[in-house]
Formats: sequence, structure tokens, C-alpha cells
Amino acid sequence: MSDSAFSLEPELPAHSTEIESINAEAFGPGRFARAAFRIREQGPHEQALSFVARCGDRVIGSVRLTRVLIGEKPALLLGPLAVRPDYKNLGIGRQLVSTAVEAARVSGGKAVLLVGDAPYYGPLGFERIAAGTVALPGPVDPARLLVACLNGAEPSEFCGNVIHEDRT
Ligand SMILES: CC(C)(COP(=O)(O)OP(=O)(O)OC[C@H]1O[C@@H](n2cnc3c(N)ncnc32)[C@H](O)[C@@H]1OP(=O)(O)O)[C@@H](O)C(=O)NCCC(=O)NCCS
Repeated sequence: MSDSAFSLEPELPAHSTEIESINAEAFGPGRFARAAFRIREQGPHEQALSFVARCGDRVIGSVRLTRVLIGEKPALLLGPLAVRPDYKNLGIGRQLVSTAVEAARVSGGKAVLLVGDAPYYGPLGFERIAAGTVALPGPVDPARLLVACLNGAEPSEFCGNVIHEDRT
């Protein structure tokens, strides 16, 4: 039985080993072939907009945002999102998503994109993108391509290939 007391905190470099182990457990080796992973491997995630859930000293959940371009428009790609099995269904996943989206909004972000299940992310402000308007480097079920627009942006503004934003 797990202790359900948890806190959400910004991600730190010291969390990376535990985050990798949570993602390996949640997604398995197949995660490396996912279209969203192919973008994330092009460059680092945005640590300032990424969060962990902790229970005591243990990292029990993680969400990351990565800066991308959709066509020529800056946006943020959300994922991976994962919660340790012992801590599921406590609202941690939803709180991680809401916290990351709010951080994106406060930072002036216009859109948070993700590949995921609409029944889970819909109540958190995400909606489907019109089929064919946004392309990732690899096949994605269009029904799972979701966006939350922020700071007055509209989904129709975001069109084109999604690539990692090169900020060097
Ligand atoms: C998806 C995940 C992050 C949810 O984390 P969590 O902390 O358990 O989620 P919450 O407690 O906030 O929400 C739980 C609710 O979401 C529902 N839910 C979980 N995954 C869902 C999914 N894929 N689609 C629809 N609903 C889902 C649960 O049934 C539960 O519903 P209830 O509140 O009516 O009982 C977690 O199950 C996980 O790590 N899964 C493996 C990795 C993964 O699939 N990540 C998401 C990739 S898009």
C-alpha cells in the first residue's frame, strides 16, 4: 500500500535517473519508436517547464515539455507523462498536466501539443487537431493528436511539420 501524500515540484537534474526508470516502466522499449520521442531525441526538454510528483524522497510521476515548432510557430510538446503504478488514480497525472500547462501559459506559450487519449486530456483543456494539419516524424493516429491553445491562440494557427525548436 503506498502513502498517497505527494507534492509537485519543478524537475531538477537530480531527478533524471528516476524519471527514466518511470518512463521505461510505463512505456517499455517501444517508447523509442514513438513519433513524439523522435522529436524529443532531437534536443533537450525544457526543464523549467517540466515537473515531478514526489512522495518523500521518491519521484513517483513526471511530465515534461519540449519546445517545438509547428510549421514556423513555437509551441510546446507535452510528454512523456507517467505515474508509478502504485500511485495511479490519485489525481497525480491530472495535476502534473495542469501544472505544466499553467507554466506554459505563464511563460507566454501559445500552444501545448501532445499525442494521447482524448478522454483523459479533453477535460484538461485539450482538443483534437483537424486531421492533416500537423505532421510528426512518424505515424500518429490523428484522433490522438491534441492541442491546448493558450494566451488567445487558436488551433487553426498551428499547421505544418512538428520539429524540435533549435534555440542554439
Ligand atoms: C496515464 C497516467 C499518466 C494517468 O496517471 P494517474 O495519476 O493515474 O491519473 P489521474 O489519477 O489523474 O486520473 C485517473 C483517471 O484517469 C483515467 N485514465 C487513466 N488513463 C486513461 C486513458 N489513457 N484514457 C482515459 N482515461 C484514463 C483513469 O481511469 C481514472 O479515471 P477516474 O478518475 O474516473 O477513476 C498513468 O496511468 C500512466 O502513467 N500510464 C502509463 C503511461 C501513459 O499511458 N502515459 C500517458 C501517455 S499519453
